[in-house]
Amino acid sequence: MRKFSDPLALREYRKSCQESVGFVPTMGALHEGHITLIKQSVKENSKTVVSIFVNPTQFLEGEDLEDYPRKIEADLKICELAGVDALFLPTIDAMYEKDELSIIAPKTKGFVLEGFHRPSHFDGVLQVVLKLLNITTPTRAYFGKKDAQQLFMIQNMVKHLFLNVEIVPCEIVRETDGLALSSRNVYLTPKEREKALSLSKSLKYATKMIMNNNKKSEDIKSEMLSILKETQVEYVEIVDHQFNRLKEVEIGNTIILVATFVGTTRLIDNIWI
Ligand code: PAJ
Repeated sequence: MRKFSDPLALREYRKSCQESVGFVPTMGALHEGHITLIKQSVKENSKTVVSIFVNPTQFLEGEDLEDYPRKIEADLKICELAGVDALFLPTIDAMYEKDELSIIAPKTKGFVLEGFHRPSHFDGVLQVVLKLLNITTPTRAYFGKKDAQQLFMIQNMVKHLFLNVEIVPCEIVRETDGLALSSRNVYLTPKEREKALSLSKSLKYATKMIMNNNKKSEDIKSEMLSILKETQVEYVEIVDHQFNRLKEVEIGNTIILVATFVGTTRLIDNIWI
């Protein structure tokens, strides 16, 4: 496995790859969710590039940028074992100039849900993902449905800016008890971890209601909120695949999303119906 910290050196490496290149951008502290993305890329492309970069511009003031888990030794081993060809580990200085053009997420869909509760978060995500895609120019790039709105914003950026890359959405990976894997799960105390199960439980219950033909968003949201009552809910929302709010679930075109604090840890989860 090759390692690069210089963006231009990675670009030279990329030029030497004649065939398809898959790219998996991450912030490290790799878990089974990331590994699934990486394995899919390895399967579908001749070469796979993974980036590990805790991107400062997508963290808001007071968020966990300083504390974000960093496990570089373990991450290296995971990438090696998963068959990664090149690992990109840039410094902040290599990625950003002091004063550069800014990218602002689209107003209507970038400022609801995650964009509402974490204003400017998506500006930072799109800025770094655009840079990473430009450095790597992959054939395909892999993103998890776990960050559903992030995936949607990136798909739109690719469309709006005519980027020449196929965005591949990947299924959410969960623990056997339902908790969606996240690098932030390490913050949870055993008691909080128990409470964190209410996210996936609420989504499971929503699915059950829909199967019983109760598709009204208000009814589903109110049941979900009662399951989530021991957490500090930021939002429970039911949207279509374009992130328009739905009054009623449309089978095949619905995402149910939840964001909540368990103690001081912010967790998100969702289900695609
Ligand atoms: P990070 O949180 O490290 O996630 C990297 C990728 O892994 C994202 O596409 C995310 O959706 C996916 N992922 C995380 N947990 C997952 C799970 N349980 N199942 C499936 N996929 C999962 O998302 C980011 O980093 C950053 O915002 C980034 C895109 C790298 C830009 O900085």
